[in-house]
Amino acid sequence: MNVNDKKTTAKKTINWWQPQVGELEHQLIEEVLASNYLNEGLITEKFEAELARRLGVRHAVAVTSGTAALYLSLYALGIRQGDEVIVPDLTFIATANAVTMCGARVVLVDIDPDSLNMDPGAFEQAITPRTKAVIPVHVSGRGADMQAIMAIARSKEIAVVEDAAEALMSAHKGKLLGTHGRLGCFSFSANKTITTGQGGLVVTNDSDLHTRLKQLKDQGRASRGTGGDDLHPVVGFNFKLTNLQAAVGLGQLQLLDGRLKRIQEIYTVYKSELSGLTKIKIIGFNTEDGEIPQWVDVIAEDRDGLDAKLTESDIHCRRFWHPLHTQKPYLSSDGNFPNSSKLSKKALWLPSAFTHSDNDIKRVCEEIKAIEGHPVPARRIDRSG
Ligand SMILES: Cc1ncc(COP(=O)(O)O)c(C=O)c1O
Repeated sequence: MNVNDKKTTAKKTINWWQPQVGELEHQLIEEVLASNYLNEGLITEKFEAELARRLGVRHAVAVTSGTAALYLSLYALGIRQGDEVIVPDLTFIATANAVTMCGARVVLVDIDPDSLNMDPGAFEQAITPRTKAVIPVHVSGRGADMQAIMAIARSKEIAVVEDAAEALMSAHKGKLLGTHGRLGCFSFSANKTITTGQGGLVVTNDSDLHTRLKQLKDQGRASRGTGGDDLHPVVGFNFKLTNLQAAVGLGQLQLLDGRLKRIQEIYTVYKSELSGLTKIKIIGFNTEDGEIPQWVDVIAEDRDGLDAKLTESDIHCRRFWHPLHTQKPYLSSDGNFPNSSKLSKKALWLPSAFTHSDNDIKRVCEEIKAIEGHPVPARRIDRSG
């Protein structure tokens, strides 16, 4: 029995995701309040240093969101009007919006049907003399093919900005996602493994880019000023992450290892319970390589029917994004994106919260099997503890 089992009742609501805050976050917030320094400060620096240490990178810059992390990364690279940035068609729209906000053109490419991540061949074909960057996205924590993408990008002198918003501490071929490219971006919004409510991070090993990021996130100052007679050598924004948010982040970091372990256990239960189904296929993770299944996703023949029936049983999933080429700012024809057009309609995130017990996950699987017409053996619910 795992630690979450004692909360299991026969028909409780099973959410797709839910964040959790512990005692430590309350205590650390109290300390920030007592210090009367609520703005970005030493607690934010501590949060950045701890994340840099865990990710094995020289620099980590905390910002207000994953979207701000992507925007700042592209802006720091000098991406502006007239430039093109290559983005996979199946991602959260923030990836593309960050490019648009820089004034550059989003060039969408199709996905690989097995991983749902950017197809490296499609990336290569989309390169033009105006291509300045590519943003591979590690959807659900599953690594895009970084070997192939890095090799193509290097040969064409294209900067790689990884969107690792969903891939904190997930590794691809033994190397942590977000640390393969020139810059890696993370999100701490409420449905991520650790959250600061909203929040984000850029990591890099490039010291010049680091200085630039620090300036850009704080009105052009490279180090904290007074707000008065400071020097502002360049134009910048205000994307500072406050001590209050960082206090929550530091508390959440203490829970990270346990959460990473738990989400791997959840994936293992799903994998064993759902193997052999014909109309629903779990999308695999390379866990031996260090991939972390932040969210468990499946391809279902009748995705919407399955989702509706699970909802009737108070089990809540999340349907995949519409492909970006179907969203008004990025309209293009389905024919250019056969894989994302077909798979986005079939892809579903199953309940994946680290707060779920094994019994919760088994109940989801039994409902799925019943919906799909598979015989479901009588189940004993462990009510001990
Ligand atoms: C793939 C992807 N990119 C970017 C983002 C944007 O992050 P945020 O919501 O923190 O701005 C998210 C998260 O929501 C995401 O899932």
